[in-house]
Amino acid sequence: MEYAVVMKGIVKRFPGVLANNHVDLFVEKGEIHAIVGENGAGKTTLMKQLYGLLKPDEGEIYINGTKVEFSGPADAIKHGIGMVHQHFMLVENLTAYENVIIGMEPKKGLILDRKKARNEVKKLSEEYGLMVDVDMKIEDMPVGLQQRVEIIKTLYRGADILILDEPTAVLTPQETEELFDILRRLKKNGKTIIFISHKLNEVMAISDRITVMRQGKVTGNLITSQTTPQEIARLMVGRDVVLTVEKKPKKPGETLLEVKDLWVKDNRGLDAVKGISLEVKKGEIVGIAGVAGNGQSELVEAITGLRRVEKGKVLFKGKDITGYDPKRLRDLGIYHVPEDRLKRGLIVDFPAYFNTILGRHMIEPFVKNGFLNFREIKSFSRKLFEEFDIRPRNIELLAGSFSGGNQQKIIVARELSFSPELLVVAQPTRGLDVGAIEFIHKTLVSMRDRGVGILLISMELDEIFSLSDRILVMYEGQIMGEVRPEETTREEVGLMMAGHRLEEIRK
Ligand SMILES: Nc1ncnc2c1ncn2[C@@H]1O[C@H](COP(=O)(O)OP(=O)(O)O)[C@@H](O)[C@H]1O
Ligand SMILES: [Mg+2]
Repeated sequence: MEYAVVMKGIVKRFPGVLANNHVDLFVEKGEIHAIVGENGAGKTTLMKQLYGLLKPDEGEIYINGTKVEFSGPADAIKHGIGMVHQHFMLVENLTAYENVIIGMEPKKGLILDRKKARNEVKKLSEEYGLMVDVDMKIEDMPVGLQQRVEIIKTLYRGADILILDEPTAVLTPQETEELFDILRRLKKNGKTIIFISHKLNEVMAISDRITVMRQGKVTGNLITSQTTPQEIARLMVGRDVVLTVEKKPKKPGETLLEVKDLWVKDNRGLDAVKGISLEVKKGEIVGIAGVAGNGQSELVEAITGLRRVEKGKVLFKGKDITGYDPKRLRDLGIYHVPEDRLKRGLIVDFPAYFNTILGRHMIEPFVKNGFLNFREIKSFSRKLFEEFDIRPRNIELLAGSFSGGNQQKIIVARELSFSPELLVVAQPTRGLDVGAIEFIHKTLVSMRDRGVGILLISMELDEIFSLSDRILVMYEGQIMGEVRPEETTREEVGLMMAGHRLEEIRK
């Protein structure tokens, strides 16, 4: 067998973390090889070593059979490796082709031969069906196109082995499909592709073989056509996982939240929410889908008292609560799991147990006769730690000493453990592992079944589909349409995410 990439016994340590623990990776020439694993499993770290951004502490790397030691990406590029990062590295106010040739402009004498460069970039774009307008500025491109510019950039530098780190995280379903077409085309042209993801359906759809990672180690080498999402999930998590949420039909009750013609500005003072109206009833989950940055954050912040409402109203059980601060909203039974949890949610130099009751530290049973009731607090905290599988299982540690994922779990656990009437949750499972996601989904559904009204904002379409009773799709500050998950398709929602109105699609 000919291997494009062999990584053997790779060890990489960070202070306090063994990010890669004797990892072996074998990537065959011309295949699409997926690396899957939960957040923090060590995927990006492994790829950064392959791309020369990090040096392994131990282990060996072979490219096309030759042993290599890279001292930087320039070495990796020389060996035909290209990487498209999770966060793009393009210059916003330059055109596509200018971005592609940055740093390696072809010279005619001493001046840049723009015409030649532009033509080469154009040729590459056409050859691989990338369909990029080479003269368009990056800032005018949707994210999906920007990503293609990144791909062209690696090809222009002669990449034969392409690494794509979570490329679909920022894409609509249609853009994902288009990316997959491009990857298939690259493969047909003999390129080798390493595709990193934690989305099992994508891995099943696009890869030939799969390497599964968990806590820095390889836990499985699979052939895609001979495995199942359940098997991959088990290897990722270390136990059986329920991938679908059980949810029984339920009739929603009275209206809790009403948003009427709401207008909100973003940090730059531009209209981010443009006349949105919606309702959430008792016992229903209303999901808001959309690509990041279409006004969802501003909408949530306006509803939860964190951002000014320019125009319009927010009502709770018919009462006007526009502009109420978070404390007053809590008193009414309205709770919020914020998107930027680490900024808003924790006191890092307080013990974890205190953080699990933050916001309720003034009320019974956590306060008795004016004093904190530590026994009560700690037993409550231990229960949450157990339920949410927060690690390490030590409530005495300072909140700041937990890993990012576990800090998130502390906050989510706390907010869900209040007994809200209305819950506004933004990206409740972002950064969490499959096991924790499963638990949080179950908790949200059981809260709904107990009559809590839930407004759910999520970039994860799977999450929106499996939890929501109704789905609203947001695009550029407006609602493109409302659908029920059982009566729509991912394609239809995807089209709305890209700015098409439902009436227009169903016409
Ligand atoms: N530069 C760094 N410094 C310290 N720790 C890091 C650094 N990069 C990654 N880590 C840690 O290494 C582990 C693996 O991270 P990463 O490779 O990014 O995982 P993945 O890409 O699978 O989500 C995590 O615990 C992460 O916090
Ligand atoms: Mg990563």
